Amino acid sequence: MYTIATLSKAQQHANWQGYGLTAVPSLAKDPLQFFMNSLLEHGDLVPITLGPTRLLLVHHPDHAQYVLQDNWRNYGKGSMWVAIRKLVGNGLLASEGDYWLRQRRLMQPAFHRQRLSELTTTITATISEMMTEWRTAEQQQTPIEMAHAMADLTMRIIVRTMFGTGISNAETQELVTVFADALRLMNVRMWTFFLPDFVPLPGDAAFRSTIQHIDRVVYRFIAEGRQTPNTHTLLHMLLEMQDEVSGQKMTDQQVRDEVFTIFMAGHETSATVMAWVLHLIWQHPDVERRLQREVDEVLAGRVPAFDDLPRLTYTRMVIEEAVRMYPPAWLIPRTAEADDTIGGRTVKAGTTILISPYVVHRHPQFWEDAERFDPERFANGREVPRHAYIAFGEGPRLCIGNSFAIMEMQLMLAMIAQSYRLRLQPGIDIRPTTMPVLRPDHDLLMMPVARAGEQTQY
Ligand code: HEM
Repeated sequence: MYTIATLSKAQQHANWQGYGLTAVPSLAKDPLQFFMNSLLEHGDLVPITLGPTRLLLVHHPDHAQYVLQDNWRNYGKGSMWVAIRKLVGNGLLASEGDYWLRQRRLMQPAFHRQRLSELTTTITATISEMMTEWRTAEQQQTPIEMAHAMADLTMRIIVRTMFGTGISNAETQELVTVFADALRLMNVRMWTFFLPDFVPLPGDAAFRSTIQHIDRVVYRFIAEGRQTPNTHTLLHMLLEMQDEVSGQKMTDQQVRDEVFTIFMAGHETSATVMAWVLHLIWQHPDVERRLQREVDEVLAGRVPAFDDLPRLTYTRMVIEEAVRMYPPAWLIPRTAEADDTIGGRTVKAGTTILISPYVVHRHPQFWEDAERFDPERFANGREVPRHAYIAFGEGPRLCIGNSFAIMEMQLMLAMIAQSYRLRLQPGIDIRPTTMPVLRPDHDLLMMPVARAGEQTQY
């Protein structure tokens, strides 16, 4: 996809001052290509000056590690997150400073792998439901748009793991639809964060009413959850968590903000990775066959359980490689709070730092033949280049849901591979696009074809 120039080319540009306003059209047209070219032509640190706005593209894993981990306190989340905070509250993703640190400590145990094991059956039951729906699609020869199907599934999973199976199918589906609307409308505000609040945007009223709708449901579950303790939902884990020092638990408002944040951070990310996984498997029949062999051997037709996950190693490798190639959070922005130096380059306070996992995962110094889909890169015993795999971020703000995501995707892929082959409608050239997560630019219309022989009956 990209012409791999040698990095020594960067040396030829030693006096180069960085991109200016003339870069805007190519940046807007194809940000991924622009970012890759900036690495290949100008090296690891690439400044962009757009009038008063200073940006620095940080492509080297060590420099990314410096910003996200070693000196993370100097690099806040920046103005786009202020806009998000106003829209969805002060949840973990958007909050900062001591408040963030306290919430992070409070919530960390809920996302511990062992705790998550309690959610496995809710996840597999929700996937089974989708498998049954696919039988009808197959009988009627109706292709399924996989990006949408995966988003619908991960949203159903997050709603049920959050509230338990007590939430009815109709209510789950309603919440899934309303939340999708809220996210779509929120994106408009997010990407126009530089406009003052009083500038009205189309969809403002609709956004307010979708938020009110979600709030009614969430506050009802919080009230019910406080009455009837039940440890097998994420919500109960959040309600239970107690600050070690003060002994305090979260208020209803705090729990509401975190529920909203988990809905937002935790469904589209896994969904788009799964859409890419299905596309990649279709392109690589050898990988598909090996996956099927693994799930047949490990599961022997059973629905997977938590204890099966460590043995579904190839399933996991396929997911990790898909996440490398198509990291949904393709851009991690930060803002320098004070003057600093990164890799010998002076960085002024106020500079926006842009770290792209998409680019870091293709850095030719760390990844060989990076455009090739090769799950073997993640085989046990093979070392992944240090800090060059940052799909889940790095440092103290590392994705809190990474174990949840891997577990959920392993279960999804194992259950799909166990029962179906998916065939893409011919003649579609799929590429990544960036708004807001890294997603396929076309509908992924795929036909489920039940595998012959032994398979699970849902
Ligand atoms: C493939 C799936 C996922 C990917 C690639 C992903 C990626 C990321 C990244 C890159 C960050 C760091 C952002 C930053 O530093 O600014 C992050 C943070 C976060 N993620 Fe994920 N995520 C995924 C799934 C999930 C899931 C399933 C959940 C919840 C169940 C979740 C919840 C969060 C939260 C709450 C944060 C904020 C953490 C903090 O700032 O302390 N994510 N995620």
